[in-house]
Amino acid sequence: MIWGAYVHVPWCRVICPYCAFAVVPDHPGAAYDAWADRIAWEWERRPPGFDGLAETVYVGGGTPSRLPNAVLRRVLDLLPRQPGAEVTAEVNPEDLSAASLAGLQAAGVNRVSLGVQSFDRRHLRRLGRPSPIAALSLIQRAGLTTWSADLMFGLSDQSMADLDLDLDHLLAAEPPHLSVYGLTVEPGTPFARAAARGRLRPADDDLWREMYDHLVVRLAAAGLARYEVSNFARPGHESRHNRGYWQDIPYLGLGPSAHGLAPDGSRWVNHRDLDTWLTAPDAIAVREPPDPDREARDRLISGLRGREGIDFDAFAQRYAMRPASAEVRRMEAAGYLEVVGPVVRLGPAGWPLADAIVARLVSGLEPLRTG
Ligand SMILES: C[S@@+](CC[C@H](N)C(=O)[O-])C[C@H]1O[C@@H](n2cnc3c(N)ncnc32)[C@H](O)[C@@H]1O
Ligand code: SF4
Repeated sequence: MIWGAYVHVPWCRVICPYCAFAVVPDHPGAAYDAWADRIAWEWERRPPGFDGLAETVYVGGGTPSRLPNAVLRRVLDLLPRQPGAEVTAEVNPEDLSAASLAGLQAAGVNRVSLGVQSFDRRHLRRLGRPSPIAALSLIQRAGLTTWSADLMFGLSDQSMADLDLDLDHLLAAEPPHLSVYGLTVEPGTPFARAAARGRLRPADDDLWREMYDHLVVRLAAAGLARYEVSNFARPGHESRHNRGYWQDIPYLGLGPSAHGLAPDGSRWVNHRDLDTWLTAPDAIAVREPPDPDREARDRLISGLRGREGIDFDAFAQRYAMRPASAEVRRMEAAGYLEVVGPVVRLGPAGWPLADAIVARLVSGLEPLRTG
């Protein structure tokens, strides 16, 4: 059976003011060994079906590049992998050196994803982020066959000219893969408080769309084709791990806040709080039995966000449901969707509005009439 693994590393040097992930500040004496012990404990108790060799492993966070190398190696050594498996680690600029990159590779990592976010000093300062320039040039020289970068846009008071400068810098480094994220003001974060006081002005909807469309054009011209709403790659450099999520391939989530999808269709969510995850009798907070309706919704969401779209005939056959045809026709007429035979995918006007369009189609899923 094909499967992937996600391992969540909760530590970060400092917590960025916009971040809502399950993270804690790093400190001397952080419980790295206890974390690795608990991952091993989870691995031993994994659900049935995660046999054989993993196709992909994604070490995310948080900031995996904060882990001592021996701890990362210990965790990766637990997970049996196919020859040529994709093993990604998210890395932050402040942690990288030629030696740390070599250590990651020696531990089994063959793809890194660098949190660039921006190159502009003013925006970096507001985001609480260091310059990514030195880290980018280290990655370029590390001899990795593939790597990725994360870029944020729609930042407070960011202009199109600012975004263009960020793209000039980033494209000069020739990333094989890029993820782009419009700033989301997450409830409960310092950014949410700043926005409430009028001190933060993220892009409004029009500028957001303009920036997104501009990104797509510039990235395409640089050979980075969009294969999902937020993901762009040179041919052959698409993330195999992400594709697995979108194709409902089972994944084993390990670590605080990690999610998992078992081969029988059941799901689980681990405790989010590090101490609870470390010490509770069970690392899992929520278990969900297989749910065909949820599976159908997830398939629709992930399929429509991707370049290939969804074959609605195959979907109907598998799930005995179909999105409301009148809605699909309306969205096609408006350019939000393209319909080619049984395949429905986002149209040019639909990509920047993907979340809203997909939500509409999901809420209009209708059971097939029989007889
Ligand atoms: C889970 S984070 C971990 C990566 C790494 N720790 C870092 O910050 O570079 C993955 C990416 O999510 C994006 N991200 C995090 N919070 C965000 C927010 N509030 N709005 C938009 N993008 C966000 C950033 O681009 C970040 O690189
Ligand atoms: S480094 Fe990444 S994961 Fe950590 S707080 Fe910042 S955005 Fe969140």
